[in-house]
Amino acid sequence: MNAILGVSFFILGSLAVYIFQKKRFKKMTEEDFVCEVVQKAFLKETQSDHNEHNLVRALLKSDDFIKDLSLTAKFKGMIVGYILFTKVRVGEETLLTLAPLAVLPRFQKKGIGKSLIEKGHKVAKDLGYKGIVVLGHAEYYKKFGYEPASKWNIKCPIEVPDENFMAIELYPGALENISGTVQYAPEFGIN
Ligand SMILES: CC(C)(COP(=O)(O)OP(=O)(O)OC[C@H]1O[C@@H](n2cnc3c(N)ncnc32)[C@H](O)[C@@H]1OP(=O)(O)O)[C@@H](O)C(=O)NCCC(=O)NCCS
Repeated sequence: MNAILGVSFFILGSLAVYIFQKKRFKKMTEEDFVCEVVQKAFLKETQSDHNEHNLVRALLKSDDFIKDLSLTAKFKGMIVGYILFTKVRVGEETLLTLAPLAVLPRFQKKGIGKSLIEKGHKVAKDLGYKGIVVLGHAEYYKKFGYEPASKWNIKCPIEVPDENFMAIELYPGALENISGTVQYAPEFGIN
């Protein structure tokens, strides 16, 4: 008897959760799904202020936002990864910054981050940008050709370890003669 009651409660509970989730998903916009992925991805990151999803909401409305460089990765129609590149200024030049990159925890280590970075680099190059700066895991971004930005005398406006502030040229020699302190979109709140 108890077992039958238990199974019934379980089925009813699961159904209620399913209906609740379905209603919630129906109301959510693409922006909401993206922000949820970003928030969940950074949840266990120790070097995070856990505010990246709010930064994304702000950047989506920024003057420095580029629609073609806001990219999602999907699995069975569900957003599981996200990457955003926005404009930054270095002297007279407009470059890009990669921030953030996020993959849902259970989809990590499957090459999704890699494919988002590679797609982003291709689109950025096709749009005529010369280079990208990123503040992040040195070991990770090194895999995609990023090097310490100090190589070009490109500086972060805040004090960070040299190895974590990186840049990449989108074609050989693209960052030659570009140097100075990066000016981020005001939404980053770091200039
Ligand atoms: C960092 C993150 C985006 C990586 O995404 P992912 O889809 O798991 O990465 P990939 O599967 O494409 O990994 C590509 C390579 O990087 C390696 N890698 C993955 N995460 C790594 C990390 N944190 N540090 C170093 N290497 C890492 C993988 O092992 C793989 O190596 P391989 O090509 O030699 O096999 C993801 O772990 C994440 O969302 N983390 C939380 C948010 C975050 O830290 N974002 C980046 C801010 S700098």
